[in-house]
Formats: sequence, C-alpha cells, structure tokens
Amino acid sequence: MKKSDSIQIHDLSFVPLISEEAIQAQVNIIGQQLTERYQGKNPLFISILSGAFVFASDLIRAFDSHCEIGFVKLSSYAGTRSSGDVQTVMGLSKDLRDRHLIVVEDIVDTGRTLHFFLEHLRSQNPASICTVTCLRKPEAAQFPVPVDFVCFDIEDKFVVGYGLDYDDLGRNLAGIWQVLE
Ligand code: IMP
Repeated sequence: MKKSDSIQIHDLSFVPLISEEAIQAQVNIIGQQLTERYQGKNPLFISILSGAFVFASDLIRAFDSHCEIGFVKLSSYAGTRSSGDVQTVMGLSKDLRDRHLIVVEDIVDTGRTLHFFLEHLRSQNPASICTVTCLRKPEAAQFPVPVDFVCFDIEDKFVVGYGLDYDDLGRNLAGIWQVLE
C-alpha cells in the first residue's frame, strides 16, 4: 500500500494524517524530557489498554533510565462515539503508594477516561502523577484533565492507527489516519 492511499475499514474511508516518522520524532522528544524529569526515580508507566499499548512500548524505549510498566484496561467506546460509562475491566496489581506514576493514553477525546482513572489513582496515594497522551482533541474536551505531555493536538474527527482502532481494526497501522467525511 502506498503511504498516500486512502484505506477502507468497514463503512469508513481514512486518509493519512500523521506519519510514522513524525510520531517517532515526538516520542523521542517526550522520552528525553521524561528521562530528565524521572532520573533515579524508577517511575511506573501505566498504559491504558488497549489503544495505548503501541505508544507505551515506543515511549518506554525512548526513556533512558530504570522504569517499570503496568497495564490497566478501561473501556468507554463503542464504534466511533463514547458510550458514556467508564469501567475498569482489568486493574493494576502493583502497589501504587509512594510511586511516581506516568499515565500513558493513546488519545484524550472527551477526557472522561483519564478523569475517571486519575481519580482512582489519586486515592492510592502515589508520590506523583504525570499524564502523557499521543493525541488530544481539544474541541471534544468535556472533562478538565491535566495533560502534561501531548504529541499532537488534532481536529475532532475519528482517527485510527498507532494502536487506535475502529471496531478493533486499524491498530497495526504505523501512522495515524483520519476519517474522510
Ligand atoms: P475519552 O474518555 O472520551 O477521552 O476517550 C478516550 C478513549 O476513547 C481513548 O482511549 C480511545 O480508546 C477512544 N477514542 C477516542 N477518540 C478516538 C478516535 O478518534 N479513534 C479511536 N478511538 C478513540
């Protein structure tokens, strides 16, 4: 497939929005900044599944110091629209008390997922919490969530790729693709 082609997933067409190279450049910059901030602190990266697993795996490899990674599965999406409820499907097994936490999201859309999850994390008395997202849709924001590091702000249009899916397809695309309206 040529990089400029559009792709079809079910009923939707997608066109390229952000290249693999542009993503990697941003990941490296944020990885360096996190390395400086967390030197010697053994932070715990927490990747929100499923979407953030690709971003998290690149981000921890751009982090040049000791760190740990954990995963939590939350879900609030069905198809292309947020369904409203946020539920913890699979929790973290680690003790978070006095840990430096780096929460890794694929995309902050309404902010509901992160808002809910941050409340949960704060109740575990960590030493600090920092949030990192690959994408953010500022126009879609409904919940005021602190996001410390953002690779890209994008329009309020549905995207797939780099871990993000449309009904479970598209996660394996190396770049980000935007729906053609
Ligand atoms: P929020 O709770 O509304 O901020 O939505 C966050 C979650 O919804 C993300 O972690 C994604 O799993 C999903 N999501 C939001 N926007 C998109 C999109 O454009 N494409 C694919 N998934 C999305």
